[in-house]
Amino acid sequence: MRKQIVAGNWKMNKNLQEGIELAKSINDYFMEKPAAKAEVILCTPFIHLAGVAPILKANKLFLGAQNCASEPSGAYTGEISPDMIKSTGAQYVILGHSERRTYYLEDNAILNKKTVLALNSGLNVIFCCGEVKEEREAGKHFDVVKTQLKEGLFTLKAEELKKVVIAYEPVWAIGTGLTASPEQAQEMHKYIRDLVKTQYCETVANGITILYGGSCKPSNAREIFSKPDVDGGLIGGAALKKEDFVAIVEAF
Ligand code: 13P
Repeated sequence: MRKQIVAGNWKMNKNLQEGIELAKSINDYFMEKPAAKAEVILCTPFIHLAGVAPILKANKLFLGAQNCASEPSGAYTGEISPDMIKSTGAQYVILGHSERRTYYLEDNAILNKKTVLALNSGLNVIFCCGEVKEEREAGKHFDVVKTQLKEGLFTLKAEELKKVVIAYEPVWAIGTGLTASPEQAQEMHKYIRDLVKTQYCETVANGITILYGGSCKPSNAREIFSKPDVDGGLIGGAALKKEDFVAIVEAF
């Protein structure tokens, strides 16, 4: 059985006090409800990590960052290394989010470098992929995702890939209220799993967790998560409210 995961990507929201409050309320909820099926990951801004880490005591509740540097240390003003993230107590880092690709011009080569470095530091990686609207309309979505994964991820050895979660986030569905239909999500997730199978083997493909992201909310999570190749979600807006976020976790 592969892991089911619901990860909240807080993006650049919540000041430190608000973030700690949200993390506390989510932790309290899962302390009282230890039977949640899915693993839960809170991906907070960097400055929240050290403050949130000691709060997360509930079973299957983990912490992640949203980016990391591509170099291990040194004169890189303003950057945060994977080792620094790991030292806060965090276990995960999101890499390749479309907002990083678009606004900070991160390409597959730099994302591959970051992924290798993060894994070497002992972090697990949530690696994002997904096409923009024009690419889907042109029927290029499979090719786009294939290139992102081939160049960004498939240089890893099978052993290393076990520490990676793939998140399919169609860019046209992020923050737009437009969700991929459960069928569209399933179709792409199956395609991604088949790519992993071709590149590695069936065991690796069957073991890898693939999340859906893009306007996932309590009202649509159950249907999306019910698809056989969808193993959970990467949640943006709805991760900022405890009630919505835990309702999505409970959708399993
Ligand atoms: P929304 O859930 O706000 O669409 O964001 C999805 C996302 O980008 C998660 O990484």
